[in-house]
Amino acid sequence: MQSSSSQSRIERQHAERTPLQERAANDQFDREPLQRPHGIKVTYRRMRFQFEAGFPRYWVEGSAFKSLFWTQLSTAFQPGEKFFIDSARALKDEIHDPALLEEIAEFCRQEGHHTAQHIKFDRVNEAMGVDIAGCRKRYMWILNRARERLTPMQMLAATCALEHFTSAFADQYFNTPELFEGADPRVEALWAWHAVEEAEHRATCYDIYRQLDGSYFDRIDTLIGAWTMIIGCAVINTLVLLKRDKRLFTLDTLAGLNYLFGVRGLITRLAPTFVRYLHPNFHPWTAVDASYIARWLRDNSQYFEDASLSDDQPESP
Ligand SMILES: [Fe+2]
Ligand SMILES: [Fe+2]
Repeated sequence: MQSSSSQSRIERQHAERTPLQERAANDQFDREPLQRPHGIKVTYRRMRFQFEAGFPRYWVEGSAFKSLFWTQLSTAFQPGEKFFIDSARALKDEIHDPALLEEIAEFCRQEGHHTAQHIKFDRVNEAMGVDIAGCRKRYMWILNRARERLTPMQMLAATCALEHFTSAFADQYFNTPELFEGADPRVEALWAWHAVEEAEHRATCYDIYRQLDGSYFDRIDTLIGAWTMIIGCAVINTLVLLKRDKRLFTLDTLAGLNYLFGVRGLITRLAPTFVRYLHPNFHPWTAVDASYIARWLRDNSQYFEDASLSDDQPESP
């Protein structure tokens, strides 16, 4: 049984506001309107793709390296997007901006639906004998270590860094069409839709972090850690899958490493985006041309689904 003094101490602690809650309640932080380009509204859309009917194991141009690189990346989304949703939800009660709260709700639903669709994609790969469980386990191991070590604000900072990574991938995806040249169109549609929505919600977590006055040091520290983690894990997973397929020591692997790290490689081209994030006044929507979002949505309505036809349930905040 608790003594009356410890009971009143607990009651006092419950009654006390955290500094963030105090500041929010007093409306002392700078609550600028959300910076969003005209026409951008984070929106949950239910989708139905055709990749479940099957596709080749090497679905990008017949290249084992390119295909398995994207295939293994898909396994990051189940643990990764859960991490993002949990980070946003953990701090959303500190947010009092109705526009941002509405965006957080749509963000969580979008990420939940991305995971549901990627799990379907992963299952087809698993049925073809790709070691999906092993790849996912490596991403999960890293993200679980991060959960154990980071405070809620640092977890959010890591989410901002990874959202910056996914939206940078999205920009590249649409601005460098040769990256997916020769990809199976049934699979390509999944990645294009995911890229569109990553671009669309690029600033949601960042604006939570900003409105809660997150530290610059944590933002940069987690950028370095998160990007190293995801690139490192992606490369290891790809090499492990290639080895299992007895395709590791081939010219395709050399070309694949060039595809990632060459002068015009996918990862190399992320360098300016990485540097941009270091600026103290960085905002995800500054100097970004995301007109491809509206274009893709306009031209691909065949993938939008009536909610009543769907067989998976989205995450909701
Ligand atoms: Fe996503
Ligand atoms: Fe995202």
